[in-house]
Amino acid sequence: MAWKKITRNNVHIHSPLAWPLFDINGQLVYRRGTRPAAEHDFAQKLAEGLYQNDEMSDEELERILLGGVSALSHVQQFSARLQKTLLSFYQGNKNEFNFIPSNLANLAKDIMKLNENNIDAILGAVHLDKSGDYFYRHAVDCAIICDIVAKRLDYDKNRRRELCCANLTANVGMLPIAKTIEQQTTPLTLEQRAEIHKHPTRSVELLKYAGIESTTWLKAVEQHHERANGDGYPAALRGNDIIEEARLIALADTYHALINARAYRDKFFPMDALKELLTKGSTDIDQEISKHFIKEIGIPPPGSIVKLACNEIGVVTSRANKLGNYAVMSLIQRDGKPYSVPLARDTGNETYAIRGIYHPKLPIRINFLDVFGAVA
Ligand SMILES: [Fe+2]
Repeated sequence: MAWKKITRNNVHIHSPLAWPLFDINGQLVYRRGTRPAAEHDFAQKLAEGLYQNDEMSDEELERILLGGVSALSHVQQFSARLQKTLLSFYQGNKNEFNFIPSNLANLAKDIMKLNENNIDAILGAVHLDKSGDYFYRHAVDCAIICDIVAKRLDYDKNRRRELCCANLTANVGMLPIAKTIEQQTTPLTLEQRAEIHKHPTRSVELLKYAGIESTTWLKAVEQHHERANGDGYPAALRGNDIIEEARLIALADTYHALINARAYRDKFFPMDALKELLTKGSTDIDQEISKHFIKEIGIPPPGSIVKLACNEIGVVTSRANKLGNYAVMSLIQRDGKPYSVPLARDTGNETYAIRGIYHPKLPIRINFLDVFGAVA
């Protein structure tokens, strides 16, 4: 096999790696698709020695890459796993019911593991991919977003796991009526409003019945629709009477609902949704947490469509680096024609500086593999 030592000239640090890179012992260091600019220790690893093997077959690569499953595939699979588990609250046999706590704990563990790498690609998937059943994708996407912020807030692993589990199960009490409400274009009836107001308590009852005893998990679910100004439900709690985990879930829940279309309204573009959250900051949303939230998911977040100074249109593929620059993959040329292959742009170069958020009239087709590399 032809091992080749990589030098700085072999790598475009803002583009996804075309090949995985290994250390001198053949241990995988960076997966294919990793963006070197997003790795804080890339320069050091490069100095220690990084090697590629371009004769390695795709099969060998897949095996080495721990199954080679991308961030996007992971998110989609998590959603399918959650669907199976939440349905067993209502229709599972006794055996499946007994596995609810461990299935949820394993799912939370896998979400946390995914969030150890590729956060830009994961956020790209959250913002751009709308596949799967919304009810479950919403729960998984909110769990991912909350966990990213929880890491910033230095939650320990146990606290992060409980937060993930609370996100995954907060709305289980609403599952029987969720589809109807999701597709409804008329105002909610009084009965529906009453049902909605009961769902946090109903979720807690179901979780307790399934054997969940964690106080924080249950409290976060019970309080996830409480609001800082006392306008929430079911107990109209205020401010710090609402635990931080519940305030975090409330924020992710509101943001994620905004960036997804409803039967009665279009979706918000990510930056517009963030603005909406900021303007609500003084009333029902926790302002302090909003600041961490916005900083951690990015302004604009990966997956945002932007216009560059040179009039190209591209998609943001990283959060800002220390210099405040973003990686963007340019999709549309200045004359309006699409690039056949997206081109990596660094917004630190003033030709490619972000000039504004682009609101396409028609959806732009984005190939995740081209844009985020194999990790997406
Ligand atoms: Fe809810």
